[in-house]
Amino acid sequence: MEGILHLTPMENKEIVREGYNTIASKYLEAREEAVREKRSEDLLLLQDLAQRLPKGAKVLDAGCGSGVPVTRFLSQSFKVIGVDFSDAQINLARQLVPEAQFICQDMIELVFPDNSFDAICSYYAIIHVPRQQHKSLMQNFCRMLKPSGLALLCMGSGNLAADIDVYLGTRMYWSHYDAATNIKMLEECGFQIVWRKFSKVAVLEVILRQSRADPAQELSHIQDIERITVSSDGPIQKLTIHVIPGAEVKEEVTRILGQSNIESLVMRDPTLEEAYLSILK
Ligand SMILES: C[S@@+](CC[C@H](N)C(=O)[O-])C[C@H]1O[C@@H](n2cnc3c(N)ncnc32)[C@H](O)[C@@H]1O
Repeated sequence: MEGILHLTPMENKEIVREGYNTIASKYLEAREEAVREKRSEDLLLLQDLAQRLPKGAKVLDAGCGSGVPVTRFLSQSFKVIGVDFSDAQINLARQLVPEAQFICQDMIELVFPDNSFDAICSYYAIIHVPRQQHKSLMQNFCRMLKPSGLALLCMGSGNLAADIDVYLGTRMYWSHYDAATNIKMLEECGFQIVWRKFSKVAVLEVILRQSRADPAQELSHIQDIERITVSSDGPIQKLTIHVIPGAEVKEEVTRILGQSNIESLVMRDPTLEEAYLSILK
């Protein structure tokens, strides 16, 4: 059996459901902030999906959360059904996107008839489903889609059998296959891949001996930097800089911040929380 601490798929899902019940408002805040700052590349993808769909199309948003921004955007043009198993998320969604229909249910248990939807969209939710259930989930998506239907799915890109970590202050569970396994699985389930993108960040952590007034602003023009957070402990300042993997930014960062003021400068992989927060953009 896959999983950590020998938890069953049901127990792992309960961690996710309880987690999102706890952080529904906090997650919405983080999501809205990304959209406000126009960092939300996923909204551009939705526009692309929308352009490919017929007028009045029927769309399923699986793991819709509070419905913002994805269900809300889709509901402007289509008949949307949002599904999520967190009561708190569904309650928010019913308030925030009254024009859509919402169902509080585990997406693995959906029993819509064959050929029900023109499109199925799922953002950042499949990564919380125990991966031994991913194939049957995809088969069911395929069954519920019309023959020319489209799926826009956010799946994991690294091999992660199961992990439990803290996310936005609560306990959270993730599980997914690597990109190649996902592509193969989707094809076996009957999907043809039209488009795909691999999303990842690296983190450059810099500790400064003396605080600077606004180091994030000083570094903001560097092209391959996606996000900077600054924290201070007395005179020591820590910068957590999200960069595109493989980007050569160390030299420019050192030049701007001053070699003599840098206590340490280390490139590392993101923590799980950093990785998942970064893909919200
Ligand atoms: C990271 S949030 C994403 C919400 C929204 N799709 C978005 O783009 O912001 C993940 C959502 O998936 C839901 N979820 C996770 N596993 C689920 C499952 N098996 N069935 C239904 N919803 C699920 C969670 O409750 C949570 O609201």
